[in-house]
Amino acid sequence: MNTELTFTPAASAPSELLAVFAADSSTSKDKDAKPEVSLLTSDEAIRKAANFVLATGEFRAEANETLLLHAPEGLAATRLLLVGLGKAAKADVHAVRRAAGAAVRFAKPRGIRSLSILVPEGSLDAVQSTRAIAEGAILADFDSDTYRTDRKDRSIEAVSILVPSGAHKSAIEAGHREGVIIAESQNFARDLINEPGNRMTPTILGQRAGEMAAEYGLKCEVHSTDKLRELKMGAFLAVAQGSDEPPALIVIQYEPESVKPDTPIMGLVGKGITFDTGGISIKPADNMEKMKYDMAGGAAMIGAMRAIVQLKPAVKVIAIVCAAENMPSGKAVKPGDIVFAMSGKSIEVLNTDAEGRMVLADGLHYARELGATRLINAATLTGAVAIALGQINAGVFANDEDAYQHFTDALKTSGEKFWRLPVEDDYRDQIRSSIADIQNTGLTRYGGATNAAMFLKEFVGDTPWLHLDIAGLAWQDAEKPWLAKGPTGVALRSIVEWVRSYA
Ligand code: BES
Ligand code: ZN
Ligand code: ZN
Repeated sequence: MNTELTFTPAASAPSELLAVFAADSSTSKDKDAKPEVSLLTSDEAIRKAANFVLATGEFRAEANETLLLHAPEGLAATRLLLVGLGKAAKADVHAVRRAAGAAVRFAKPRGIRSLSILVPEGSLDAVQSTRAIAEGAILADFDSDTYRTDRKDRSIEAVSILVPSGAHKSAIEAGHREGVIIAESQNFARDLINEPGNRMTPTILGQRAGEMAAEYGLKCEVHSTDKLRELKMGAFLAVAQGSDEPPALIVIQYEPESVKPDTPIMGLVGKGITFDTGGISIKPADNMEKMKYDMAGGAAMIGAMRAIVQLKPAVKVIAIVCAAENMPSGKAVKPGDIVFAMSGKSIEVLNTDAEGRMVLADGLHYARELGATRLINAATLTGAVAIALGQINAGVFANDEDAYQHFTDALKTSGEKFWRLPVEDDYRDQIRSSIADIQNTGLTRYGGATNAAMFLKEFVGDTPWLHLDIAGLAWQDAEKPWLAKGPTGVALRSIVEWVRSYA
């Protein structure tokens, strides 16, 4: 999809479909109360074209509600689509991002190949809205049916973002560019996540990262078994040893031209399990196919680097993705086995399905060795986080208030939903082993997401660190009006904003 800015008056811009946002400004709490629908444009011709249908009351401007008018009088567009943002008080840029996506996903199955979307006028910032529209449109164009041989490519070719007069042109252009970079990077990550295990092995993930890095001039190294042995990454190797596919330790570095003294070095660590069978502690057959997305955290980090290199924040970033396939075999790690992590800690492997924390243990330690002074990791780590938070919020754990504050600020821009869960020493007993320093599962089933976080915490020392458990949100089981079902690319936008906040 190509998105472009148009600064001519909306009514005279020719297009197959013109999408215009509307909000409900009534403040009544009564669900059946008559909505007060207002179009977020001052364009008289558009207001006139929508006048009749608005008077009927059949369009309530609920969030992502759509209403289509054909051959609207007085407009150069052949269709006018009204798209709701919901109650005016809640109609923020995040509602605009979703509604722009809803417009695109409305057009997609109807054979429409190009559309224009009008930047809302009113209380919303035009630059932020432009960025949100670009993001929403590009993210909405993604579909996961890549391997259907009868697939009809229904991609939208062009979206023209119509900017009302009076907006600051260069700021709008910058906002647009950011939106495009971020959303295209998120779709890049979604493509990686969508690939099945046989087409996305650790080696292939390493190749894809390398190609991306070469395209944008990032430094990228991909190491395998020998180097892992040399680095003494016993935890990572234990997970990888059951598979015929060699592991890949992917290291991508972004180094800006100049950095202010005392700027931290950001370490991004991703779980890249390209397929998680559970290993000897094998998972049940039902839903096991979903475990192709167990590299979603790693993909988010590779995608984040793709965005960061283009946005050029003045901060050094090191991304590490620990990619392996978790398989049962005659060579596989067994319950009860003891291994030594790179940090020197001994680990009793009680459950081979708790493999994510094992690979991350060595990834986090290595990031510190490479000089990272702030750490963030993303992982589809536990089913327990989805039990706790459902599929609405992802989990965030932090050992440092300042790093967490940077992250909550980042969420205001990204619009992603994360909920903080505890990682504190009172839980330490859960991972105490009777034979080794720690064990890789909790003593009890309770607090499973925190037990995993406690395990990771053993490997970050006193470095400020955030752990994002995205198991509940990395894959969307049902389509949303603004987003296809399948891989979401969650966490990428927030990680990028978090990194930028340190520049
Ligand atoms: N990859 C899974 C977690 C997961 C579950 C991701 C559902 C996405 C959806 C992880 O490796 C795992 O199997 N965790 C175990 C840990 C347990 C053995 C302590 C779990 O959550 O059951
Ligand atoms: Zn597992
Ligand atoms: Zn896993």
